[in-house]
Amino acid sequence: MTPKVQVRAPGKINLALHVGPPRPDGYHPLATLFQAVSLYEDVVAEAADGVTLTIRGRGADLPTDASNLAVRAAQLLRETSGVDRGVALTLTKEVPVAGGMAGGSADAAATLLACDQLWGTGLGREELAELAAELGADVPFALTGLSAMGTGRGDLLTPVMSRGTYHWVLAVQGEGLSTPAVFRAFDAMHGLSADGAARAGGVAAADDAGSAGAGSAGGAEAPRVDPALLSALLSADPLVLARHLTNDLQEPALELRPELGDVLAAADRAGALAAVVSGSGPTVAALALDAPHAASVAGVMRAAEVAAEILTVTGPVPGARVLERVHARR
Ligand code: C5P
Repeated sequence: MTPKVQVRAPGKINLALHVGPPRPDGYHPLATLFQAVSLYEDVVAEAADGVTLTIRGRGADLPTDASNLAVRAAQLLRETSGVDRGVALTLTKEVPVAGGMAGGSADAAATLLACDQLWGTGLGREELAELAAELGADVPFALTGLSAMGTGRGDLLTPVMSRGTYHWVLAVQGEGLSTPAVFRAFDAMHGLSADGAARAGGVAAADDAGSAGAGSAGGAEAPRVDPALLSALLSADPLVLARHLTNDLQEPALELRPELGDVLAAADRAGALAAVVSGSGPTVAALALDAPHAASVAGVMRAAEVAAEILTVTGPVPGARVLERVHARR
């Protein structure tokens, strides 16, 4: 009997993303509001000798060796739990690669949960979340899903109440953006060096982690999510939410990829309630009133030919979950 486990984890968009000056470890303190959306990464984990990875769907040209976050996730769980079994992972990707939607993080989260089930390591959600944080700042959120505020590197999560379902139009670019490069552009724009020190003319810098805000605040306060955004999410009213979409990485992403200005303008012309670059980009998320409005905005944006793909999704959706546990005959 060969156990086989299928796990699904969602991509995310950032409804708000506030960035502070880099800490001594190079990471930036964040205050962000994540919403998990209905684009999914599916991982099928089957018992095997070593750890192998096959990729289907998007990203068929991504590396499948230990530089892939899914492989690292399996290896990390194996090492920490002392398991000596292997896994053959098959990944089917829907989330854009290097799109600012945490697709790679969703792969890692799904793999952690799938291998935990396959190997019977029986880690709780909390222990899995700790391993997730070791793998990357966005991985813990892919485990929990729904809506959450992220602080620290984005990995310290506080669940947030959200009412209703929001309809989004995503403009996906053919070529991704490097997250570290976008953070570097953020630093350059704010006159910050990589260790958080402000150069002449820059904003106030942090003495220690998280003590200053270089981004939207531009002053010496820790980045924080506007409480009005939290209220907006309780309203279930997209018109209210539309007023609170914000992203400190939008400008640096636009600097690296000026065409994103055309995407934002096209979303506006198409009648989107608001549009914002998701995370470090280049995916743009445009908010619609409801499903028919999203279809109409998507149609107009498609005709504008500003993106490789225009998708419609909804959020919030749950985090990583087991879809199927199969005991097949070998
Ligand atoms: O944690 P993760 O590997 O996803 O982050 C990728 C890169 O993005 C980091 O190496 C860092 O350059 C940048 N980053 C950052 N501050 C954060 C999150 C990511 O500077 N809070």
